[in-house]
Parts: sequence; C-alpha cells; structure tokens
Amino acid sequence: MNTLAHSFVGRAALCVLLALALAACNKQDSGAAAPAASAPATAKVYVVGTDAAYAPFESQNEKGEIVGFDIDVVKAVAAKAGMEVKFVNTPWEGIFNALKQGDRDLLVSSITITDERKQSMDFTDPYFDAHQLIAVKADSKIARFEDLKSLKVGVQTGTTGDETITKLQGKNSPDIKRFESTPLALKELETGGIDAVVADNGVVVNYVKNNAGNKFKTVNDPAFLPEHYGVAVRKGNTELLARLNQGLAAIKADGSYDRIYASYLGAPDAAASAPAAAASK
Ligand code: ARG
Repeated sequence: MNTLAHSFVGRAALCVLLALALAACNKQDSGAAAPAASAPATAKVYVVGTDAAYAPFESQNEKGEIVGFDIDVVKAVAAKAGMEVKFVNTPWEGIFNALKQGDRDLLVSSITITDERKQSMDFTDPYFDAHQLIAVKADSKIARFEDLKSLKVGVQTGTTGDETITKLQGKNSPDIKRFESTPLALKELETGGIDAVVADNGVVVNYVKNNAGNKFKTVNDPAFLPEHYGVAVRKGNTELLARLNQGLAAIKADGSYDRIYASYLGAPDAAASAPAAAASK
C-alpha cells in the first residue's frame, strides 16, 4: 500500500514535471517565433524621394518641411496601404539613380510617365494630367511654341520640358539653358538672362500667379502633348506597385484625392484652363 501510494505520487509528479517541461518547450518556441513574425510589419519605413523645388506639387515650407500636392497624395495612399513613409529631398539630377541604387523605395516628383523611363523603372497608374507651358515676361511678343525656335529658353535638366525644347531647337542648340532646378530657370527669366522657361503647366501657373505685379504671363500651345504623372518604384517591385495602386484607387474612390486636388490646385478644370486663359490676356 505504501509502495503503491509512493509510486502513484511519484508517477503523478513525473507527469506534472514532464508536462511543465513540454509547456516550457512550447513557450520557448513560440516566444522565439513571435518577434520574427511581427518585426517586418512595424520596422519598414518606405523612403520617398522628391525634388522639393516644384511648387505646388513638392516644395519646402519655412520650417523646412516637405509639402505639396504630391506629398499629400502619397501620404493618403500610404495610409490606405498601411505603409509608413518618410520624404527625403532628392535633387532631380540624381533622383532616378537613387531609386535604382535602393537609397529610395519610391519617387513622387511630378514625374511624367515616359516610354524611356519605363525601361528602367515601374510606374503606378497615373495620378495627375499635365502638359508643358511657357512662362515669359508680361510684355513678351512670344505667342506660340514655334516662336522659341531661336530664343534663349530655360529648362530643368532632364525634364520633359528639356525634351520638348530639345526637339524644337536640336540637342546642341546653344540657346537651351539647362538648370539644376526649375526655380533657378525662373530666376534667370526674372533677371532677363533668358527669354522663356518651359516647364509643367501647374508649376508655371503657380509661379506666374504668385509673382506680384503681373510681371509674367503664360503661353500655351496645342503642340504640347498630354503628360501623366506616376509614382515610380524599382523595376520589378510588383508588390509595392500593387499596394500603391490599390491605395491610389481607394483615395480616388472615397473623395480624398479630390479634396487634396482642390486644396492645392482649385477646381479640377482650373489647372487646365488657367494657362489658356492667362495666355489670351
Ligand atoms: N514632369 C516633368 C518630368 O517628369 C518635370 C518634373 C520635375 N519635377 C520636380 N520635382 N522637379 O520631366
């Protein structure tokens, strides 16, 4: 009886010990697995490159913060896609390389989707329609794009504005003045070093509007081709592309895209018709 009882207690104790040991083993397993599984969801911050000298799409405010239409669009898209984003001012000249090298995960910079660029990066669905527009002094006789054939024209290097004037004047034209940024080209127009600037309509309209004393005007031309802005990701980054496209569709569907548009560009037609209206003045 005594031995029986002993052995029963002994076995029971052994079982309890075994069970505890097993439980401890399980705990250790799941304990080790838990951080690994949850880490990627919290750690990844997507680095967004933007040349923040292109108001109202991307610029730096007095506090040095990067702001603008593009910025709010990507912030809203990221919120829908459950992504954390951080914007980093990136000079246009090296922006595509920064993406390629992995220094940036995506780019939003009023980037026109072109066949040439599509060879080396992937683009989201278009999020904005644009076209080139000419900025000239208010008293300028320039009335059409053709008038720029043998005049000094400022552009930002490597932009579609650059491509557009290069087609008209030829690659080696000494009259094409290429600048690191669009504001630098516009400064040169102000000081009289050049006769015109060719850049995206939204930026040109914004600049002319914000210049006191009606010193400048815009000139539109039907020859300017339709352009579409896209967010760029590394070629083959289909997962990120899909998330961005879903986010974009979501902000278009729920009205947040329209609200962002209105806050930076006014009524949807204003951006498109303002150039023509200003040009006919
Ligand atoms: N849309 C034009 C292009 O893709 C100009 C873009 C310039 N953007 C900028 N943030 N500076 O070539």
